[in-house]
Amino acid sequence: MYRSHTCGELRLGHVHQEVTLAGWVQTIRKFGSITFIDLRDRYGITQLLFGEELNQQLTEQPVGREFVLQATGLVTERSNKNPQILTGDIEVTVQSFKILNASAVPPFTIQDDTDGGDDLRMKYRFLDLRRNAVRKNLELRYAVNRSARNFLHQQGFMDIETPFLIKSTPEGARDFVVPSRMNPGQFYALPQSPQTFKQLLMVSGYDRYYQIVKCFRDEDLRADRQPEFTQIDCEMAFVEQEDILQMFEQLIKHIIKDVKQIDYTAEVERMTWEEAMWRYGNDKPDIRFGMQLANFQFPSHTFPQRSAATAGNIDFRQTGFAVLDGAETIIGMAVTGCAEYTRKQIDELTEWVKRPQIGMQGLVYIKYNADGTCKSSIDKFFSEEQLKAIAESSGALPGDLVFLLAGREEKTRKAASELRLEMGKRLGWRKEEELKLLWVVDFPLFEYAEEENRWVARHHPFTAPKPEHIAVMIDNDPEIKDAARYLEHPYAGIKANAYDMVLNGNEIGGGSIRIFQRPLQEKMFAALGMTEEEARHKFGFLLGAFEYGAPPHGGIAFGFDRLCSILGGSESIRDFIAFPKNNSGRDVMLDAPGTIDQQQLDELQIKLNLK
Ligand code: AMO
Repeated sequence: MYRSHTCGELRLGHVHQEVTLAGWVQTIRKFGSITFIDLRDRYGITQLLFGEELNQQLTEQPVGREFVLQATGLVTERSNKNPQILTGDIEVTVQSFKILNASAVPPFTIQDDTDGGDDLRMKYRFLDLRRNAVRKNLELRYAVNRSARNFLHQQGFMDIETPFLIKSTPEGARDFVVPSRMNPGQFYALPQSPQTFKQLLMVSGYDRYYQIVKCFRDEDLRADRQPEFTQIDCEMAFVEQEDILQMFEQLIKHIIKDVKQIDYTAEVERMTWEEAMWRYGNDKPDIRFGMQLANFQFPSHTFPQRSAATAGNIDFRQTGFAVLDGAETIIGMAVTGCAEYTRKQIDELTEWVKRPQIGMQGLVYIKYNADGTCKSSIDKFFSEEQLKAIAESSGALPGDLVFLLAGREEKTRKAASELRLEMGKRLGWRKEEELKLLWVVDFPLFEYAEEENRWVARHHPFTAPKPEHIAVMIDNDPEIKDAARYLEHPYAGIKANAYDMVLNGNEIGGGSIRIFQRPLQEKMFAALGMTEEEARHKFGFLLGAFEYGAPPHGGIAFGFDRLCSILGGSESIRDFIAFPKNNSGRDVMLDAPGTIDQQQLDELQIKLNLK
C-alpha cells in the first residue's frame, strides 16, 4: 500500500493516528535541526515534520522540489495553524520516509502564481497540470460533463458514438484530412461536427441523441477557438424550434445550478438576429448591460426595412461636417454617467477606435452635462439644441457621454459593438459573477460570399428556412445578377429556423431545425451553387436517407470548452483543455504537427510538393 490517506484528507479528528502519505514535494523549509516539507497531491497539501532523528537520512538522501515522496508518521495538532489550507490544523510527524522517485528541477514553480510563461508551461504541460489553478479548471470541466450527461440521460437522450474517419461535413471551416493507405490517393476528412450522422440517427429512429464529442476544424485560431474542440452535440426528432429552446435552456440552467450553485430562474431572453445587429451591432450581444446603439442612417443599407432614429429635424447628410455627411452609417451610444470624462480620456478612446483592429477614422463625442448643457467635438456644426437632440436620441440623460461613429455600415456597426463592449468592461458592467443567457433567433438562411458571387449557408446547408419562407426559396432563382445589389435579392430576406445560445456575449451553442425532405434539401444544395452531380457525390447518403421516412428533426451543439471557460471565468478555452494547441495550431509539448518518414509517405503513395 503506497498511502493510507490523501494529502487533502487529514483533520484534527485524525490526531494520534499513524498514516502514510504519498505525493510531490511542494516546498522544503529547514529550521535548524528540523525540516518541514509540504507534500502535495491532487487533493491538497499536508505539512510533514522531519525531526532531528531523520535529519541524517535527509542529508544522505536529499529531497528536492517535485520529488515523489512516501512518508509514514503520526498526525499531530499544529501549534502554528494555517487557516489557508484544509489540512492546516495538523501536520504529520514523520517516522520514516522513502523517495519513490527523484525529479529534475522543474522549469517553473508549481504554484498558483507561477513564474512560467505561456510557452514554457505548454511545453511542460504535465507539470502545469499539477498546478492548483489548472487542476481546478479540469475539475470544473468534468463537473460540466457529468452535469450535462445526467440531465440528458434523465431526459431520455442516448449517447451514440459516431466515426471520426469520414467524408467532409460542411460547417464552414477547412477539413483536416487523413490519407488512406488502403485506398491510395484517397483521404478521409475528420468531422467538423457529427452533423450528418446525428441526422441519420434521427432517420433511424433514435429520437433523442447526444454525444460529448471532439470536432476538428482547420480555421484561424483565437482565444475561444481550437482546431480540435469538444461539443455537447444533441439532436431530437418530432420537434419544433420551441421544443428545442425549452429543452436546452433547461440543460444550461441545470449545468449552472450544478457547477455554480446558481439558481437561474429567470426566463431566458430571446432576440431576433436583426434586433441584435441593430441594437448591439453584434449577433451575440452581451446583455448584462444596456448602452444600446442608436442608428442614424438614411436608410440602412443592411436593414432597408428599419427606420433609423431621428434627432430633431437634423438631416445627417447635410451637417457641413464631412465625416457625417458622406457616411453610410452613423451610430450613437450613450455612456451612462461619463459626461465628466477628461479630454485625455476621450483622446485615448479615440486612439482606441483608430487601432487597425477597429479601423475607424475617429470618434465624435457629445458631453451631455448634468446641468443640461452640451459640449462636443462637433460644436462648430451643430447648435447646442441640436447636440442635445442627438444625445437624447442616442438614449442619453444629463450626465452621460455620447459617442458617434460614422462610416461604412458593416465596419461602423462592428466598431460600435466593440466600443460598447470595451466601455462595458472599463466601467465594470460586465461582471464575471453575473450570468446572462440569451437566445438569438431568426438568423438569415444565406450569406452572400462576395469573392465567389454566390450564396453560402449561414449555419450549414441542412438548416431549414422558416416555414413561411420556404416558398420564397422554392419560387426564386438563386442567381445573383448584380453583385452590388445582392441585398435586394429575395434570398437575402429568407430567415432560417436557426438559433444560437449566447452567454455573457459569447456564442456557446448553435443549432437549427433541419430540412428533412429531399426536394427542399436538393433545392438548398442548388442554391449554394452545387450541381446535382456534386450534391449526389457529397451528400447522396443523406438525400438517399430522406427517401426512407425521415422524421422532422432539429438539434443544437454547445461549445463545451467555451461553456467551461465562461463558467470558470476565463477568456481562454485553452485553460480548460488538458492538452491544448497554441495559436499556430501546434502542440509544443509533442512538437506536433511533424514530418513523417519517407517510408510512411511511400506506403501512402504520397509525394510532397512543398513550396
Ligand atoms: P457550430 O458550428 O455553431 O454548430 O458549433 C457549435 C458550437 O461549437 C463551438 N465552437 C467552437 N469552440 C471552440 N473552438 C472552435 N473552433 C469552435 N467552433 C465552434 C461554439 C459553437 O456555438 N453542427 C452544428 C450544430 C447543429 O446545427 O446542431 C455546429 O457544429 O460554441
